[in-house]
Amino acid sequence: MKTYLVTGGAGFIGSNFIHCMINKYGNSIRIINVDLLTYAGNLENLKGLENKENYTFIKADICDKDKIEEIFKNNEIDYVVNFAAESHVDRSIKDPEVFVRTNVLGTQCLLNIAKNYWEKEDDTFLPGKKFLQVSTDEVYGSLEHEGYFTENTPLDPHSPYSASKAAADMIVKAYFDTYKMPVNITRCSNNYGRYQFPEKLIPLVINNVLSGKELPVYGDGKNIRDWLYVEDHCLAIDQVINNGKLGEVYNIGGHNERQNIEIIKTIIKTVQNTLDESDPRRNHISDELIKFVKDRKGHDRRYAIDPAKISSEIGWLPETAFEQGIVETIKWYLKNAKWIENVTSGQYQEYYRQMYEKKDERVS
Ligand code: NAD
Ligand code: TYD
Repeated sequence: MKTYLVTGGAGFIGSNFIHCMINKYGNSIRIINVDLLTYAGNLENLKGLENKENYTFIKADICDKDKIEEIFKNNEIDYVVNFAAESHVDRSIKDPEVFVRTNVLGTQCLLNIAKNYWEKEDDTFLPGKKFLQVSTDEVYGSLEHEGYFTENTPLDPHSPYSASKAAADMIVKAYFDTYKMPVNITRCSNNYGRYQFPEKLIPLVINNVLSGKELPVYGDGKNIRDWLYVEDHCLAIDQVINNGKLGEVYNIGGHNERQNIEIIKTIIKTVQNTLDESDPRRNHISDELIKFVKDRKGHDRRYAIDPAKISSEIGWLPETAFEQGIVETIKWYLKNAKWIENVTSGQYQEYYRQMYEKKDERVS
């Protein structure tokens, strides 16, 4: 039986990954979820798993050496899947320090303890172990109109968030180059789907459309992101754990490039079409909610992944077209109004006020 140490498993992608693995492998695997439960961590995302024998939650900081050491001491960990991170670019622009702490020092702490437990006296590693670092395409910087990010694209991060992720990738690479530690790095494009905290574009827009609030578009709205359905991403990670060549980087994306303004208009239309005809919220939904606001500082123009390596070497291909994934996602947010209500009360209101108050200064 393989034991996975999943970090950040109470966040958006981590919680989807845990559900996905338990659905796929049932009781033949064990999962230990280590999460600090920051503003982005939500145990509601894991409802239904609490009483499963093969699932354990431990509240801990990935920077806490003693606690991580204790987890390795008490459990025979086979795979570390490191999702834990500060993940929001806007927050990193306001307060970079915690990004360096969690994303860089936290990754180093996990790596080093895993190495101590997995390395044998002859400097080789126990078989069947792997450290998978979940990274991002943002480490490659920004593209113009043409071209794609491949695994050989030089790293050129711009935001404090992407710089911290690139630094973490370099440390993971160093552990492979120096010690031959069994690692993989995956770099995916923007994810969307259930359980995403509404500070990111898609859930923020769904939430605002439903409450008749303005939809803030940074700059001219023509920045491009390459959207990946979270469940497709989780299956790709599973395949890299099982079939990825040690030491390699794999880009994960599915050629779903869209301008932000296009995404926002699609959400408006899809919410309109999904709500019952008698639903009073339909009355306030229109393109008039769109509001162009001050641009993000250092806003990357375009991200686009070339997934040729993962599809040719490992056979992974995304299964969900954007048109289908966005409908599923909107339906989930409509059905889970309580989830949204819980995560948007309190601290979120204050975050929203602080973040968007100043952006209102520019209207085009
Ligand atoms: P998220 O912000 O939703 O979740 C992050 C989780 O990490 C939260 O549960 C949080 O409580 C936990 N965490 C934060 N600091 C911690 C610490 N010090 N110790 C333990 N746990 C801590 O993030 P996400 O969107 O699920 O992203 C997961 C990973 O995927 C991140 O590493 C991110 O960089 C990467 N990624 C995300 C996207 C995306 O579109 N969301 C795209 C590319 C890469
Ligand atoms: P985001 O979801 O924050 O992801 P990332 O910055 O990591 O790609 O943003 C996606 C895109 O949407 C990005 O170009 C910034 C833009 N955006 C807005 O226009 N308005 C918003 O309110 C937010 C949160 C993002």
